[in-house]
Amino acid sequence: MSVEFDVDHRLWLLRTRESAYAFRLDEADRVRHVHWGPPLTLEQATQITPLPNPVGSSFDEPFDDRPELATEGGAFFGVAGLSVRFADGTQAVEWAYAGHDTQDGLCVRLRDRHYPLEAELHYRVRGEAVERHTVLRNTGTEPICLLRTDSAAWTLPRRGDYRISHTAGAWSAEAGLLRENLPTGETTLTSRRGVSSHQANPWLMLDDGTATETRGEVWSTALAWSGSWRITVERSHTGRVTWTGGFGHEGVQWRLEPGETWETPVFAGLYTADGFGGASRKWHAYVRDFVQPHPEELRPVVYNSWEATGWDVDEPGQLRLAAIAAEAGAELFVVDDGWFGARTGDTAGLGDWTVNRDRFPAGLGPLVAEVHRLGMGFGLWVEPEMVNPDSELYRQHPDWVLAMAHRGRTTLRNQLVLDFGRPEVADWAYKWLHRLVADHGIDYLKWDMNRAFTEAGRPGDGDPGRVWVEHVRAVHGVLDRLRADHPALRIQACAGGGGRTDLGILARTDEIWTSDNTDAFDRVKIQHGFSQVLPAGVMAAWVTDSPNPLTGREAPLEFRFHVAMAGVLGLGGALTKWTADELRRAAELVALYKEIRPVVQHGTAYRLADPAVSPLTAVQYVLGDDVVVLFARRPHDHGRPIVTPVLQGLDPAAIYHEVGTGAVHHGAVLLAHGLPITLTGDGAASALVRLRREPR
Ligand code: DGJ
Repeated sequence: MSVEFDVDHRLWLLRTRESAYAFRLDEADRVRHVHWGPPLTLEQATQITPLPNPVGSSFDEPFDDRPELATEGGAFFGVAGLSVRFADGTQAVEWAYAGHDTQDGLCVRLRDRHYPLEAELHYRVRGEAVERHTVLRNTGTEPICLLRTDSAAWTLPRRGDYRISHTAGAWSAEAGLLRENLPTGETTLTSRRGVSSHQANPWLMLDDGTATETRGEVWSTALAWSGSWRITVERSHTGRVTWTGGFGHEGVQWRLEPGETWETPVFAGLYTADGFGGASRKWHAYVRDFVQPHPEELRPVVYNSWEATGWDVDEPGQLRLAAIAAEAGAELFVVDDGWFGARTGDTAGLGDWTVNRDRFPAGLGPLVAEVHRLGMGFGLWVEPEMVNPDSELYRQHPDWVLAMAHRGRTTLRNQLVLDFGRPEVADWAYKWLHRLVADHGIDYLKWDMNRAFTEAGRPGDGDPGRVWVEHVRAVHGVLDRLRADHPALRIQACAGGGGRTDLGILARTDEIWTSDNTDAFDRVKIQHGFSQVLPAGVMAAWVTDSPNPLTGREAPLEFRFHVAMAGVLGLGGALTKWTADELRRAAELVALYKEIRPVVQHGTAYRLADPAVSPLTAVQYVLGDDVVVLFARRPHDHGRPIVTPVLQGLDPAAIYHEVGTGAVHHGAVLLAHGLPITLTGDGAASALVRLRREPR
């Protein structure tokens, strides 16, 4: 990684291949942002001088440059990413520079001029991203109250206008992409739910209002945290844009005990001049190269029983499904909720992780053996962080749940949240998971999490805010331990669909259950939002029944397949009710997916059209000489013009031939006019086109 330091200007420069990031110490040892954008040399970066605030007054900061991690104290009136209160009531920090080192990235050390607080600002270049986080240390003898401990603040260069892109949604409607003008003042994106959430996701993109999918400057950051979080973007009255973000939401406080160290999660950022698509491709490369545990693998085609059987899970039913799934080409058979304890619905049994002998009289052994005999891996659904009050676990350990003294215990989906921050709870979870995997030869776990936190406290604990952080660290810790002890185990992250979709969970799981909404029409939009930061190779997508059980909408089989083939294809329908023709066609399409899978899962992704604008959308993947384009057109008004999107990322001088038809296309024509596809009628229609570049 490239870190350069100019001693005279006390300025650091970090360089990626296509961007530069610079900051400096001012005369009072405050760490000031200098540059984030196109590449610069160290000498060039030293020429960037802070501008005085345009309206000099005693009601403002004297200079318009922004801190790298803003603290309360002095003439600073923005959002403090670090807010601490010392035992004597002082709530301001004055740093003294204490050196820097470049052993593991760049670490800039600061210490308070009077109080026993030290901080480290960490920076690390990974591919096109700059990863940042902060470490705090209490070197004194009294606790320090931490009111807000963000990972980092990010600052844009001055531009004429600003726009923010982010996602909003709900359960079964995740990742709705929004692109809106950034208002002057403070805009907060947040989750107070204990998970990164369906409602918002901890990433954003900023541009000056002129960027498009293919062109223009975009600055983007993503927080690697799977719990509640907050990012506050400030567009000041001077027109400067800064944002600060980290774990925990407003009002949550922690006590930093004497001698204790507090480490924030990574907040990564990247810059591109290639538009929103360029930003997404840089994120995808970053996720593959630096986040995913096994990016080199191809994700198997899963069959999951949830939409077929719900909680009605038993050995004969699962065996029937397994036989059909194997015929259809599934490579991994996953038994969902309902195989354990008294779990025959969502009211009882959660927490009692022993096989239900009424449903599986001889245990899971015979089913696992048959699934393996059929040539599939075996996967199982678990929800380790939760308990139904009607369970043996809760009757034995009513004190194991998040709760507050003299307050009710709010149940959601009839369940309570186990307090994973207690070592004995996390240890219990690790042990039964370890036994389950070891005893049954389990290849894959679907780790689910189905409710938001309420009464997030620990009766009698004087520092209850910690549960928000400790819970997530413990979940990450159990996942890490399981993976270390079972290197062949693969894990899907699920929280009622995509409620825990973030870089923190992706560092220890292999894919994400994108949404409980498997309606292919809705999926086009959900996948569009998901793809802004995350690659297709972690986006699990099942083909299910028509009409869709959730939305009641009908969609042709091929349409459902083509939409799901843009991610990690799986099957989730009631296959016992499919006709012989449907099953035969499904098997053909699964086989076709296996051929294109390397291109989709490991290739470079291009979004060719925006589903919010066009009924016809398409995504394109390129890997070496291979190109896959998946078109999906939703029903549309008769007679309205529909634009066929042009392809991207091809070699204009090359010839591409269409696999299957042999048709020949010039790269330049595909880039200027797109593929000459014909989708008949006004209803749902789709197409898959494979191209191969011919050798010169
Ligand atoms: C929520 C998940 O998203 C579903 O796929 C399914 O596993 C259910 N939970 C089971 O309770």
